[in-house]
Amino acid sequence: MTSAPPRPTLIPVSLTVNGLPVDAAVPGRLLLADFLRDSLGLTGTHVGCGHGTCGSCTVLVDGEAVRSCLQFAVQLDGCAITTVEGVSPDGQLTPVQQAFQDNHGMQCGYCTPGLVCSLTALLAKDPSPTEETIVDTLNGHLCRCTGYQNILKAARQAAGRPVEEAHG
Ligand code: FES
Ligand code: FES
Repeated sequence: MTSAPPRPTLIPVSLTVNGLPVDAAVPGRLLLADFLRDSLGLTGTHVGCGHGTCGSCTVLVDGEAVRSCLQFAVQLDGCAITTVEGVSPDGQLTPVQQAFQDNHGMQCGYCTPGLVCSLTALLAKDPSPTEETIVDTLNGHLCRCTGYQNILKAARQAAGRPVEEAHG
């Protein structure tokens, strides 16, 4: 008879998620992405590559765009997390979300939550980014549906730039 594997030690963590306090006890190696999705049911955060390449798991940590597949939940103790479910506290589409809708900036939508979070973080810091800055931000995201032109148009609209603009 084999013995059961040892249970992982649980570590207390206190953070704010989408404006609500969350206190939990989690394994030290539980990824933030899995904590959000599996423990809190916030499945708008998508996991694509799982190793920091695709950007689909991007959330806001204290206002910064962060890849939640590269963070352990315990590292976020004391932090404020915003997922795509929380970017619009009043339930209305934010300018970024509206821009994606207006420009058909999604196909399957798998990459969209991460893009919305990254652009939200960018525009909070720089409401009038240059074309180069917008492209730099989008460069951190992979879209398997390859709808990059409409994503770029959405980003330009959210940034208050002409959507068809070709050069910054
Ligand atoms: S799932 Fe995190 S960057 Fe791809
Ligand atoms: S819209 Fe399908 S992965 Fe980007």
